Amino acid sequence: MANERWRKRLVGNRALSPETLMMGYGYDPFLSERSLKPPVFHTSTFVFRTAQDGKEFFELAYGLRQKRPNEEPGLIYSRINNPDLQILEDRLAIWDEAENNLAFASGMAAISTSLWAYARPGSVIVHSGPVYGGTDFLLKKILPQFGVTSIEFPAEGGAKAMEEAADRAHEIGPIAALYLETPANPTNGIVDIRRARLLAESLRDGRTPVIIVDNTMLGPLFQTPLAEGADLVVTSLTKYVGGHSDLIAGGCSGAAAALEPIRGMRTILGTMCDPHTGWLLMRSLETLKLRMTAAAEGARRVADYLQNHPAVASVWYLGFLPEDHPDRPVFERQCKGAGSTFGFEVQGGEAEAFAVLDRLEVIKLAVSLGGTETLASHPASMTHSDIPPEEQMRLGITPALIRLSVGIENPDDLIADLDQALRR
Ligand SMILES: Cc1ncc(COP(=O)(O)O)c(C=O)c1O
Repeated sequence: MANERWRKRLVGNRALSPETLMMGYGYDPFLSERSLKPPVFHTSTFVFRTAQDGKEFFELAYGLRQKRPNEEPGLIYSRINNPDLQILEDRLAIWDEAENNLAFASGMAAISTSLWAYARPGSVIVHSGPVYGGTDFLLKKILPQFGVTSIEFPAEGGAKAMEEAADRAHEIGPIAALYLETPANPTNGIVDIRRARLLAESLRDGRTPVIIVDNTMLGPLFQTPLAEGADLVVTSLTKYVGGHSDLIAGGCSGAAAALEPIRGMRTILGTMCDPHTGWLLMRSLETLKLRMTAAAEGARRVADYLQNHPAVASVWYLGFLPEDHPDRPVFERQCKGAGSTFGFEVQGGEAEAFAVLDRLEVIKLAVSLGGTETLASHPASMTHSDIPPEEQMRLGITPALIRLSVGIENPDDLIADLDQALRR
């Protein structure tokens, strides 16, 4: 493990920015033949110098004793720890302004492992809606099989809807977690994290529910949920952090104590990230700010174009939230930018949306988001198809809705592509 020399976060009195720290934080080249970049530690297990070392490493990893001052966890087995993941986790924690991070095999692995760690039979999870289709399935179809109820409130219902959902949940059992996806995929609905914190504190009935925020849509650059009062932030690293649509991974950040039960659950479920993916993510983190900034600028241009097009009925770009919209003050306080994933409705329904999607030549027709390339998809029939049609309509996932994830191409090329697809 790297010593303090490789974990310096100041130069003189100046605190180093996350984008600077991504080039080397937490990695000691002198432990790896002076290699500038961390090697990929493709190993399942690590050799102990002595049996006593092995005993002490396990004691710490399994929580059988407290950590001694300055003691670093010893490497044991790659399901428990691995150097690539440790460096990656240190760097992800910097972006999330967290004490610690855990890297997972997918965003869903991060979400499900976190919920397994906190939910108990008889408990309730209060969550915003819509949430990503996989999360929706977990909350409504899988967790109930284990005696965990989910109560949904619409993101656009504001704090009142959240509080009413908590009241209903209380009648069923203790609230294990407030689970928020904000902005929501695909509607960009916003939930006020500070209000969730106040609600969680007011619910104190022995144990305050943990607040988990899915930060995939804006994170980590444009939103920092822990600073707003969340306990844990989960992110599909598959999206903006990976950023090249070539890997699947997830992360969960928070205080070390809040992550402890999740770490234990990850070790037993085996939902950790693999070292090679961890290495790819570290490479991606070096360009994260550049990519997210460029994509956000391109998205603004594309959204401006779409908003003025006669074949477009509405554009759900966060930068267009009207001054008098209830989400506007929350957006301005909670978010540092509008990001680059948003939906727009064409005039008509599914047939008209499909016609536009099928005519695109530069923009690829694929689910996912946050990559360097622009992707378009149809949430109602793809990512959110598991949600019954009437519920889709209630959540705003209409047949005319197309979701765009704008990449880092020249925005004029994207506009030309949309122009020909919408014109015919
Ligand atoms: C908001 C959100 N959360 C979680 C996930 C799940 O992530 P993964 O596909 O990495 O499991 C996705 C995937 O699309 C998502 O959009």
